[in-house]
Amino acid sequence: MNNLDEFIDNLQAEIFDDAKRAFGERGFQRWRNPKFNGRMEDPDGYGKVTGECGDTMEIFLKFEKNRVSNASYSTNGCASSAVSGSFASELTLGKDPDGLADITAEDVLNAIGRLPEGDQHCARLAARTVQKALTHYMSHLVKKPNR
Ligand code: FES
Repeated sequence: MNNLDEFIDNLQAEIFDDAKRAFGERGFQRWRNPKFNGRMEDPDGYGKVTGECGDTMEIFLKFEKNRVSNASYSTNGCASSAVSGSFASELTLGKDPDGLADITAEDVLNAIGRLPEGDQHCARLAARTVQKALTHYMSHLVKKPNR
């Protein structure tokens, strides 16, 4: 191993240690593998919210028999927003509109484990975006009552 390889390995280990401290083990794993990340074509429910920090989150929901069958998120925000979007998407799976309406920032935080001090608003942004996607879905239902 040459000096550059060693330097890169050490740097990566340091970054991983920092991320583990910031997010806890569950959040760290998700940070490394941001499941549910990506945009979805033709979602039944779509939410886009720009948070107080100026970052934007999008949530995409697909429904089957009035329950979420697929979900994804996209964000241009920080690592905490990516982890929050990922867990928020996961929380929506299998939920009907009542269950979705109950999803809060606290639920997102609990699912992650923890977020760095000062990043709680990233979980709030994810929860608000879920609610926006639900509102969009519900507005479809009003237009198409037989869906
Ligand atoms: Fe903007 Fe995390 S979402 S700082």
